[in-house]
Amino acid sequence: MTMTMNDIERALRELRLSGVRATLDTRILQAQATGQPFLETFSLVLQDELDRRRSKLTERRYQQSGLDERVTLGEFDWHFNPKVPRQACFELHTLKFITQGFNALLIGKPGTGKSHIAKALAYQGTLQGYDVRYIEADTAFAHYSLAGPDEQRKQLRVLLEPDLLVLDDLFLARRIADVSAELLQTVVHQRYKLRRSIVVTSNRVVQDWGKYLGDNTMSTTILDRLMHRSTLLEFEGKSYRLQEAATRIATAT
Ligand SMILES: Nc1ncnc2c1ncn2[C@@H]1O[C@H](COP(=O)(O)OP(=O)(O)OP(=O)(O)O)[C@@H](O)[C@H]1O
Ligand SMILES: [Mg+2]
Repeated sequence: MTMTMNDIERALRELRLSGVRATLDTRILQAQATGQPFLETFSLVLQDELDRRRSKLTERRYQQSGLDERVTLGEFDWHFNPKVPRQACFELHTLKFITQGFNALLIGKPGTGKSHIAKALAYQGTLQGYDVRYIEADTAFAHYSLAGPDEQRKQLRVLLEPDLLVLDDLFLARRIADVSAELLQTVVHQRYKLRRSIVVTSNRVVQDWGKYLGDNTMSTTILDRLMHRSTLLEFEGKSYRLQEAATRIATAT
């Protein structure tokens, strides 16, 4: 017995074929208008379902990544600070470093685009199907130091499991709590063993990390592992934030 459109609608809902449901009317009209063979219509309908599932997955990966904006390299003005290592940024953007288990350290002056590049790498990761976690380092470490043991275990898992972890603005608040320093050490050590990539941005030169960790030995063991399989990018130049603020003031007056 032939199904009515209502029956088909119900069946698609039951089978969770939302991609087919969304385009079926169009595909039926298309088939009638063009007289295309059944196999061609069927493959279009299947493709609609696949497309819908892939974009839903990508959206879910973005939602879980912790990113609050879809930052890309397309919006970056490479002429503003000509010394920003453009080639190295694009090389990282291929994300080959994730498959190789390499890290990246983006170090340098405030407002020169380190976080922008790191977020663009994280976003590109979600588009390419990687499980990505973007963390504002100081905020995450502060939460961790205040959490109970169960919550701490959960937070540690979140930092260890993803294919790519981005620790943004590390040591922005200079000194971090001892328990946070230990967390950083565990995360770096474990991910190093598992060959899972970390991208760190910081406006503190690595020579000073010992001061912010309150322990020089710890700083050495962390840096040792972070930098063993790693790309170090130095960001020199003027602050884009200041430039933007100056432009705002100039237009206001
Ligand atoms: N060359 C650039 N082209 C376009 N936008 C830029 C550029 N550099 C920085 N920005 C923008 O300026 C703002 C500050 O940049 P960002 O946060 O990446 O700096 P940062 O190097 O991480 O600074 P900090 O060390 O203070 O964390 C962001 O909104 C970023 O998108
Ligand atoms: Mg930053």
